[in-house]
Formats: sequence, structure tokens, C-alpha cells
Amino acid sequence: MTDITTQQVRVRTTTYEANSILGFELVPLAPASALPTFTAGSHIDLQLSGGLLRSYSLLNDPQETHRYCIGVNNDAKSRGGSRFMHEQLRTGAVLTISAPRNHFVMDETSPFNVFIAGGIGITPLLSMIARSQALGTPWRLHYTARTRQHAGFLGVLQRYQGESGADVQLNFDQEPGQKMLDLKALIAAVPTGGHVYACGPLALLESYEHATASLPPQRVHREYFAAKQASATDGSYTVELMRANRSLQIAPGQSLLDGLIAIGLEPPFSCRQGICGTCEVKVLEGTPDHRDMVLTEAEKTANNRMMVCCSGAKSAKLVLDL
Ligand code: FES
Repeated sequence: MTDITTQQVRVRTTTYEANSILGFELVPLAPASALPTFTAGSHIDLQLSGGLLRSYSLLNDPQETHRYCIGVNNDAKSRGGSRFMHEQLRTGAVLTISAPRNHFVMDETSPFNVFIAGGIGITPLLSMIARSQALGTPWRLHYTARTRQHAGFLGVLQRYQGESGADVQLNFDQEPGQKMLDLKALIAAVPTGGHVYACGPLALLESYEHATASLPPQRVHREYFAAKQASATDGSYTVELMRANRSLQIAPGQSLLDGLIAIGLEPPFSCRQGICGTCEVKVLEGTPDHRDMVLTEAEKTANNRMMVCCSGAKSAKLVLDL
């Protein structure tokens, strides 16, 4: 089961970062105490009002233990999380958060890092840039947003660029004379052995996957903020819960997560889209129908864990460590 250790933090500062993007600095309640350490690319889950659980990438330097910093885009399609963060969460508020988890891990042996960010997708890459600086790994950033007013965290980027002399290419595709990023060209220019990391909207990541198809997969990394595939809701399979010593039948049209909730279980979940990893469960028997964006292809092939919010079963029965 996913680590669901939680703790309370206080919102120390709230900053306006860009059109529709706010930054939140979260600190421990006890002065001078430390937060759990994290690695670049990690995220935390925030417990919001009304039982909402939402995941946000940590954007600050992983060497820092006195605070976690996140950026939140006020998504027009918000299911409540980003709207709450923008309209109701205030400086001084106390929040319950999970320990950091990382599904977007950096390869620290890389001789060169190329980062590609679309909009709020800059957030996990900021912690990776900080880590690259600490490791002395040269890096380059391609950051695309609709306009300069929609691009958050330009100040911190300017600081990192000033410290390292790294190449930071900004691209505002809705400003006069600008166009979409030429991903094919910029992937072709990745230095030998370099690793590439991308985070942003679905369309950008789908183009990125095409553009990087000829690179060795171990050098290509990405994190999705939205589902790429529909959830598995064909149903008609049995689920045995080993620890609870119970079984249930998932009906057509029902997700595995909804089936678990329907029998009174309270599995942790957040995004319901297969992108945050909160609902991960160990699979003891059977073949999942993986629909998530968290597990790698190798992890999916191993069939020993799954995201129950979006994935279903290819076999007639699944046995889960629940
Ligand atoms: S709830 Fe986010 S991956 Fe399942």
C-alpha cells in the first residue's frame, strides 16, 4: 500500500506567480523543525476541505527541509481542488499533507539534462533544475506558455540561469510572431547521453513521445498532469481482498475504486485519473488492465501493482493486498 503518512503544515506565504498561478510556501507548525526530505520530481497530497485530496509537485530545492513550495494553476476544468486553493486557502491556514512521493525520478548520472515544460508543468522541473545545479550537471530549459503573463516562476528561473549560465528558452505561443515548440528539432539537439524530462499538457506530452521515440527509453522521462487513456470500466471481474478476507464483483460501468468504496472501504485516492499514484495497490494474483500514467512499461509488465482508480482487470479475477 502507498505510504499515507501525514503531517500538518502552515501556509506561510501565498504569492501571485502568473495569470491563474499562485505559489504556496508550506512550513512545519513547530518553528525550526524539519520536514521529511524529498527528491527532485516529488509531489505531496494535500487534504482539502470537503474530503478532497489533491497532488502537487514540490518545486523548491530538494536540499531545503524548512519548507515545501508548490504552484497551483486555477484550472478552468477544476473539480474543486485548484478552485479551493485559489479562492479559499489563505496565508496562515493549517493543512494536512502526505509525505513526499516520487514517480518522476531524475537519473543523477546523466551528463546533461534537457527540460521541457508546458505551463504549470514547470513545477517539478524547477526542483530538478535546482538538483542539477547542486550536482553540477549542465542543463537547458525549453518553457512554453500561452503568453508571458501565463508563465510562472520566471524570477526563480532567472536566478538559476544567472548562477549556471544555462540556456533558458522561453516560448509564448499565443504572442504575435511566436509558434509552437519544435520538439523534433530540440530533441535532435540533445547532447550525447543527455536525459530529457517533460511535463505539461497532454498535447505537448503526446508530441514529446513521438519526438523522443528513437531515444533510448531510459533517457526519456515525463510526467502527465491529465489522463491519456479512459479508465477501465468494462467490469465483470472478481476482486479478492487478501487482508480483508473479502471478495467483490466489479460491475460493467464501475471502476475498481468505486467498487471498493461501495463495500465500505476507504482506499486513499486523489486524482482519479491515474496520474498521481495515491491509489497504488499491490497485486498478488491476476493481470491488471493498466490505464495509469504512473508506472513505467516495465512496471506494468511486472503486473505486481496497479492504480485502482483507473485500471481494471484483463483476467477474470484479481487478488489484491488490501
Ligand atoms: S488516484 Fe491518482 S493515480 Fe489513482
